Amino acid sequence: MKPTVSSVIALAITALPAFAQDEVIDSATLREDARFYFEPIPQEPVAPEGNELTPERVDLGAMLFFDPRMSRSGLFSCQSCHNVGIGGTDGLEVSIGHGWQQGPRNSPTMYNAIFNIAQFWDGRAGDLAEQAKGPLQASVEMNNTPENLVETLQSMPGYVEAFEAAFPGQDDPVSFDNFAVAIEAYEATLITPDSPFDLFLNGDDDAMTDQEKRGLAAFINTGCVSCHAGINVGGQDYFPFGLVERPGGSVLPEGDRGRFEVTQTVDDEYVFRASPLRNIALTAPYFHSGVVWDLSEAVAIMSTSQLGTELAEAQIDEIVAFLGTLTGKQPEVTHPVLPVRTSATPQPQP
Ligand code: HEM
Ligand code: HEM
Repeated sequence: MKPTVSSVIALAITALPAFAQDEVIDSATLREDARFYFEPIPQEPVAPEGNELTPERVDLGAMLFFDPRMSRSGLFSCQSCHNVGIGGTDGLEVSIGHGWQQGPRNSPTMYNAIFNIAQFWDGRAGDLAEQAKGPLQASVEMNNTPENLVETLQSMPGYVEAFEAAFPGQDDPVSFDNFAVAIEAYEATLITPDSPFDLFLNGDDDAMTDQEKRGLAAFINTGCVSCHAGINVGGQDYFPFGLVERPGGSVLPEGDRGRFEVTQTVDDEYVFRASPLRNIALTAPYFHSGVVWDLSEAVAIMSTSQLGTELAEAQIDEIVAFLGTLTGKQPEVTHPVLPVRTSATPQPQP
């Protein structure tokens, strides 16, 4: 059931205190509660609707993900801002793209992004294929055009063959649409199962420490779970940022009104997707503004701005310890060997 704004506040106000620090935790009850709200990350990737995870398609998607020649300048690939070695982010407050311009928002991880209700902080892209077309054309990111991209791909026999193998039987396999579909297929494989939290959900009592379990209980009982639930512990719905108390201007800059820009509805002013919290310990800095570098501070901001409560330091520590159990097995990624350019390949432009 979708929690309403009032039910979130009601839950926060009536929240029972979580386990006391020395209380023994009944793992079976806690697991049952947790399984009501959350789901483990599956072991195997799931194909997005309308896509197929053939090895040829996934391999092509990986090539495109890592190839900086997909950008107008020849400098930026998806990997520039979603580095597979550091949790799928760039570790910057806001991303830097074409012409060293700063973009308006922090780069979220693409790990497990397949499980989010929609893509971007404001959910403006319905799926990963639609999403992939955005950065390629965004002037502050890769600043390319679909025409220049297709010309670049057509100019390299290695890409033409890879598109033919990934999209067999199609008349015109080298297309902007197929670029996006191949990237979506690759991203669908970027999942991080087997986090301590997943192991706990799947029945292993010893996968989490007592402190982490108390943090999980607090995450549920104080009301975080009203907004961060489901398989990604978030990413499943939209809520006003600053529901009870508006956080400071640098955390929630006035100029970025979130989903309002997508729906043009007043109710959606400063509404954002509840962040997916999988691998959150790896993806500082936090919030769409990226100004908060410390996870404890992010949790403290959430409790005052979203729940209207000030959590005790020990409880914040427990919640942070729980959030650390959301770090899953990071994909072992091999950098693909990329097709060789030819004299017909468009040259990089500043
Ligand atoms: C958002 C993938 C290139 C910066 C995203 C998301 C995905 C993604 C899946 C949404 C994640 C989520 O909502 O949880 C890709 C792919 C790229 C690419 C496949 C290559 C085609 C880039 C580049 C930059 C960048 C080059 C930096 C210059 C960002 C930022 C956001 C984002 C700042 C959040 C934007 C917003 O919410 O308005 N990307 N990305 N991405 N990416 Fe990328
Ligand atoms: C973002 C944790 C309660 C809605 C975040 C982030 C963290 C977090 C760590 C930053 C994620 C990132 O930067 O990737 C928590 C904790 C909570 C809590 C520990 C309980 C103490 C809530 C509640 C709501 C909510 C109750 C809804 C009423 C959101 C939203 C964002 C967010 C909308 C995105 C903010 C942005 O656009 O920058 N949460 N949260 N959270 N949370 Fe929570």
